Amino acid sequence: MFTNVSIGKGASPCVVFGFFGEKGQPAPLDAQTKARVAGLGLSEAVSAALARPDCTGDAGSITEAFITAAPAKGRAKARTQPIERVLLVGLGKAADVTANTLRSAGAAVGRKLAAAKLTSAAFELEGALNAAKLDPAAAGNAVGESIGLLAWVCDEFRGKATPAPKRTRLQLVAGDATFAQGLSRGLGLATSANFARTLSQTPPNVATPMWMAQQAQRMARQTGLSCRVMSGKDLEREKFTGLINVGKASENEPCMIRLEYTPPRASARATSRPTVLVGKTICYDTGGLSLKVNNGMVGMKRDKDGGCAVLGAMHAIATVIKPRVRVVALLAAAENSISDEAYRPDDVLTFRNGVTVEVTNTDAEGRLVLADALCWACDKENPSAIIDLATLTGGVITALGSTYAGLFCEDDKLRARIDAASAASGERVWRLPMHQEYRDMMKSPVADIVNSNPNRKAHPIQGAAFLSYFVADRTPWCHLDIAGVHVAERNAGPYIDGPNGWGVRLLAELLDRA
Ligand code: BES
Ligand code: MN
Ligand code: ZN
Repeated sequence: MFTNVSIGKGASPCVVFGFFGEKGQPAPLDAQTKARVAGLGLSEAVSAALARPDCTGDAGSITEAFITAAPAKGRAKARTQPIERVLLVGLGKAADVTANTLRSAGAAVGRKLAAAKLTSAAFELEGALNAAKLDPAAAGNAVGESIGLLAWVCDEFRGKATPAPKRTRLQLVAGDATFAQGLSRGLGLATSANFARTLSQTPPNVATPMWMAQQAQRMARQTGLSCRVMSGKDLEREKFTGLINVGKASENEPCMIRLEYTPPRASARATSRPTVLVGKTICYDTGGLSLKVNNGMVGMKRDKDGGCAVLGAMHAIATVIKPRVRVVALLAAAENSISDEAYRPDDVLTFRNGVTVEVTNTDAEGRLVLADALCWACDKENPSAIIDLATLTGGVITALGSTYAGLFCEDDKLRARIDAASAASGERVWRLPMHQEYRDMMKSPVADIVNSNPNRKAHPIQGAAFLSYFVADRTPWCHLDIAGVHVAERNAGPYIDGPNGWGVRLLAELLDRA
């Protein structure tokens, strides 16, 4: 696969057109594309391709038009480089085209370009986009995202036994300026998501809480964000009870990482109440003394993916989105390990906001460290809204699989904003209920609340209900349980199997609309 994608100018030996199809049959080209194809002297090759039985026009399918003869002389002369390849990318039914259709089309084109070892492609999708009434900026963004996501490689942990992969470059050319702007935005967002993916992929013997803090600090330096790390005595001073207790069995000490984005120009909005993004950053989750059984532990290096997504989002906010409002990120980072110093089931913990928690299960650790971040945010940040991302429960995987993240948000306005960001990013969320009965389920016979009710009911909702005890009543708050969606299972679309950076683009789109 190519690893370096840029936007270029001029002609390319490979041209990409869009076309539609329905029920396994290609539709005739739209008039604008047809004229463009004719103008480039490609009508014959394209008609032949569309007539082939394997050409369906299905969304994300690619039909290659073979150039048999050189294009007409006069036209060939006008171009610096003759067209050697024409890729026709299927967009399915025109009426059903969305940004996601363009994401699968972009990914299909990217995969084809990589397989054919092409280093340049010119997009000529305007005709198809007009026919489908799709905004060229959004379409360019979707294509940029998918090709940028496809370019992610993480071979840092390959050794001598793996041959070094060839790193090739890919240049994308777009005649339409709006589409090109979208492409550039999409590539930028993909870079931010890829940053999150690399952090996620980093193994737990490297990616300790303090290592995450170093990565945050380095990224902040590079992008102009401010970053502060609280550890050691700071944790006691700030009463970060969850971090202290969850993290105390590990030699890799816990920390709270705080980043801040301030809008470029001093304006009323620059001093406004910030949007606070909170990420569960458990660098390894053994379950603690309530130890996970054998196979349940594998992959728990990814229990930091909420924090990775928040860091990626801050990167996007600083480099691409540059919103007019302040944004604060809080990453609650710890390793949930075991030792004679480990916190135990039956311990009672007192949190910053005075709420006491009876620990019933040390494997319900994410909510304890998130509690610290949530009540700190309410206390210190004067937030306009809080959004937390966490790989919180296996139960959300049972409930929603890998298709939707679980969403908990009782604030209608914030939920509408999240829904809009979800639609724009293609990162799907599904609302789950919150009712006083679930909050009552968390009551403890000993302390205020338990961290897990042993009744094995509604785990994802229990998690959200627990967290609600740490958010001030009037603060709009959204909890996203991403345990089902943060890893791609298959090498398909814009992803290979592995971390997908879920949430980076959703949060970026949310702040773009702030
Ligand atoms: N990190 C896990 C949740 C998880 C499980 C994420 C599988 C990704 C894949 C979390 O800390 C956890 O252990 N949750 C428990 C909660 C229970 C003890 C209340 C769970 O879901 O089993
Ligand atoms: Mn756990
Ligand atoms: Zn966990």
